[in-house]
Amino acid sequence: MSSVPQRVFVTRTLPVDVKSFFGPDVAVEVFDAPRPPTREELVAEAKGAGGLVTLLSETVDGALLDALPDVRVVANFAVGYDNIDVDACTARGVWVTNTPDVLTEATADLAFALILALARRVREGERLVREGRFDGWSPTMLLGTELSGKTLGIFGPGRIGQAVARRAEAFGMEVLATGRDSGVPFEELLAHSDIISIHAPLTEQTRHAFDDAAFAQMKPTALLINTARGPIVDEGALVKALDAARIAGAGLDVYEEEPKVHEGLLERDDVVLLPHLGSATRETRRAMATLALDNCAAVLRGERPPNPVNDLG
Ligand code: DGY
Repeated sequence: MSSVPQRVFVTRTLPVDVKSFFGPDVAVEVFDAPRPPTREELVAEAKGAGGLVTLLSETVDGALLDALPDVRVVANFAVGYDNIDVDACTARGVWVTNTPDVLTEATADLAFALILALARRVREGERLVREGRFDGWSPTMLLGTELSGKTLGIFGPGRIGQAVARRAEAFGMEVLATGRDSGVPFEELLAHSDIISIHAPLTEQTRHAFDDAAFAQMKPTALLINTARGPIVDEGALVKALDAARIAGAGLDVYEEEPKVHEGLLERDDVVLLPHLGSATRETRRAMATLALDNCAAVLRGERPPNPVNDLG
């Protein structure tokens, strides 16, 4: 028997049979509400747990870990882990794990759905039909922009960025990319892209990368897509850029103060807004749950987890 407390707390109902991932001696509790637990609820209900399975809605910092000293693994149900203070976990000997790879294709599909919806004015067209305003085919109605021959700029050419690039190539687009240490300079991406799709993690370097100065360098016809993390875009600056026709539109799946959405975005026809659906397919969410729970179960057995983001040696 390992010394890790054989108790697991899962902060939300997951689309798998959570208990089946653990042996009979492991007590598994799920926070069974349609909302994230508050900090107080988390501290109270996860007391004594060796494993925490968290969502991006939970902030895991040193204070939480000090309040839950038995925790030995924080298994995030997400590929991104900006909600977790990894250094604080490492300093306390706590594994942090994520769910890489399994959501790459689903998220790339959704980024492309936003690209197509904006470029071909799908939202406006759908509303026009539903509101009974469709009077028949017209040569000038809701003209959009062709993707073929245009340039897609990928901000963050990791797994998801590359999957979006593959789709863009199939649509006949040119692809440019800017990464942390690779690709074209950010200024070049801004100046030459017809559509920019964000796929970088949220870090101190990427926070507000898209600010007034960035929008000023983009083409006035450019579209911005964000399926990564909201705070990479300064939403106030985005609204200003759209108001001033500095750029032509935005497709957002994530928000700076999620789930709050900047008021200035809500009534616009030149933006498409989705409720953080990037990985929301049945297949992907089951695969994410499987990875997160496998990671947690491994640490409870005293093993190294399969998808660590920190190194405890
Ligand atoms: C992630 O995994 O980081 C997503 O934002 C949720 O699927």
